[in-house]
Amino acid sequence: MTRFADFHKRSISDRDGFWAEQAALIDWHKPFEQVCDYSHPPFAKWFVGGQTNLCHNAVDRHLATRADQNALIFVSTETEQERVYSFRELHAEVQRMAACLLDLGVKKGDRVLVYMPMIPEAAFAMLACTRIGAIHSVVFGGFASGSLASRIEDATPTVVVSADAGSRGGKVVAYKPLLDEALRLSSHKPGKVLMVDRGLSPFQRVADRDVDYAPLREKHLKTEVPCVWVDSTHPSYTLYTSGTTGKPKGVQRDTGGYAVALAASMKHIFQGQAGETYFSASDIGWVVGHSYIIYGPLIAGMATIMYEGLPIRPDAGIWWSLVEKYKVSLMFTAPTAVRVLKKHDAALLTKYDLSSLRTLFLAGEPLDEPTAQWIAQGLGKPVIDNYWQTETGWPILTIANGVEKAPTKFGSPGFAMYGYDVKLLDDATGKELTEPNQKGVLVIEGPLPPGCMQTVWRDDERFINTYWKTIPGRLVYSTFDWGIRDADGYYFILGRTDDVINVAGHRLGTREIEESISSHPAVAEVAVVGVADQLKGQVAMAFVVVKDAGSIPDDAAKLKLEGDIMKTVDGQLGAVARPARVRFVTALPKTRSGKLLRRAIQAVCEQRDPGDLTTIEDPSALQQIRDLL
Ligand code: PRX
Repeated sequence: MTRFADFHKRSISDRDGFWAEQAALIDWHKPFEQVCDYSHPPFAKWFVGGQTNLCHNAVDRHLATRADQNALIFVSTETEQERVYSFRELHAEVQRMAACLLDLGVKKGDRVLVYMPMIPEAAFAMLACTRIGAIHSVVFGGFASGSLASRIEDATPTVVVSADAGSRGGKVVAYKPLLDEALRLSSHKPGKVLMVDRGLSPFQRVADRDVDYAPLREKHLKTEVPCVWVDSTHPSYTLYTSGTTGKPKGVQRDTGGYAVALAASMKHIFQGQAGETYFSASDIGWVVGHSYIIYGPLIAGMATIMYEGLPIRPDAGIWWSLVEKYKVSLMFTAPTAVRVLKKHDAALLTKYDLSSLRTLFLAGEPLDEPTAQWIAQGLGKPVIDNYWQTETGWPILTIANGVEKAPTKFGSPGFAMYGYDVKLLDDATGKELTEPNQKGVLVIEGPLPPGCMQTVWRDDERFINTYWKTIPGRLVYSTFDWGIRDADGYYFILGRTDDVINVAGHRLGTREIEESISSHPAVAEVAVVGVADQLKGQVAMAFVVVKDAGSIPDDAAKLKLEGDIMKTVDGQLGAVARPARVRFVTALPKTRSGKLLRRAIQAVCEQRDPGDLTTIEDPSALQQIRDLL
């Protein structure tokens, strides 16, 4: 593997030369003057002086060559709808949405919060924002009022774009009441709410605030809204993600660096060709949806499938039927989804013509070997794992067959991608680990490559303090993941170093869940840990000390309170954050200085050795948890 090794080496040693070449993969309105300005580390500015537009690169620039080719393919097995938009039609719809946003007073640099199910209007809204230089902030539709309110408060949007409802497994999930409650909770009040009415769930309109999309769109059927050329460093979006504290961080992304990074990844990693179809079965509420449902494939001139529904409805062959129907060449999903399919008939994998499909990419959580084997054999296609984060926007570790074909190794996402100067640090000494097979914290030496987060939205200090630390003479970004590198340069990811858990590919902070549970009036104290789960990778487990032990005299009372607490979490954060179980104890294991021993609780739950317990204040607290299990 010398070609990739050289490619990677050059991306670090001749950073500017390397990325200047990659920058030619997108259209620039005004050429950049400087490739990377890293004069104020850890802040990196990419393609300084250049002007471009994400929406132009995703949509407009394809009109000359592929206006009538498929661009957006919407499939809903929830509402039995299917609709294909060509690049020309997508261009028209994005302009209509952009005209509506302008009508509602959105200006360049304003935030627009998008709280929507997986419908085409959500894609139009994202592209319309970047078209006019507004900053979108998509909030996952599975989040409830509390999560939504904290994001509205932080993003301070001018407009919220939403819909009456989503649907999951045939059940309508009303969004509007959750949004109304979030807007009531939030101290920031957006001027307007633009509502897409799918006719799924009747809703109340607030006078002077709520505007229906359909009639406003009618007014703008012919309105032309040109792309606003923005500086390469102009923020394109923020996307909130969980960390150690209860307050989610707004990951802020630029424009030019992101467009270049995605275009490069489509070429070197995913190997997508213009005119082909990409199917990323994720959600626009997550980073995979931003990079590889919307922007990446469209920038590459590919059609992208936006799928609303479960992978097993009407049956577990639905995805493969779409691969056949739309001649999908690349597919992307999370290991959890494959583990769900694995419970169904493997014959469904081969029932359809999959000759168009080249590769299945998986990301978001550890890929276990049985799952990888099952799907690779079942499909008879290569499976490529890739490791990255909301913060980075595109893969840190994988293999790049577009540069040089490389073998995959079970249990490893692959090696460091170009642009990422990946290192492992010893947790205790902070020193770099250079020998193979040593376990350390996976870090990236600054600057982060194009496409990665610029900062935490409106909180530079938090960006610096959360992610960066100095090791002799160098500044490194922490991924908060444990890793090991073997002698061939392949990394193995061993889980998070912080209190982030990964439930069915959804990243959640245990602190957020604890805060939500604490708000229940019966709860005195709570600890939430992630526990290994066969299907979901991890699930959240809550251990609660109640204020009045007499309030749960028997098992029936405990079961009722458990249900009540789960409802609290559902209502505030959403069902994705609901713990699998809430168990009651009389004390939580803590150190003598009062720190919760979450790791020890987690180890006990996973039947592992809890390790050094010399600092524990009351060993019986841990024993209680052991006895419960
Ligand atoms: O712990 C790592 C895990 O997911 C975290 C990032 O989650 P999120 O911000 O939602 O971004 C997902 C983008 C694909 C990481 O810190 N993770 C992600 N991919 C993998 C993974 N763990 C193991 N293997 C992976 N391929």
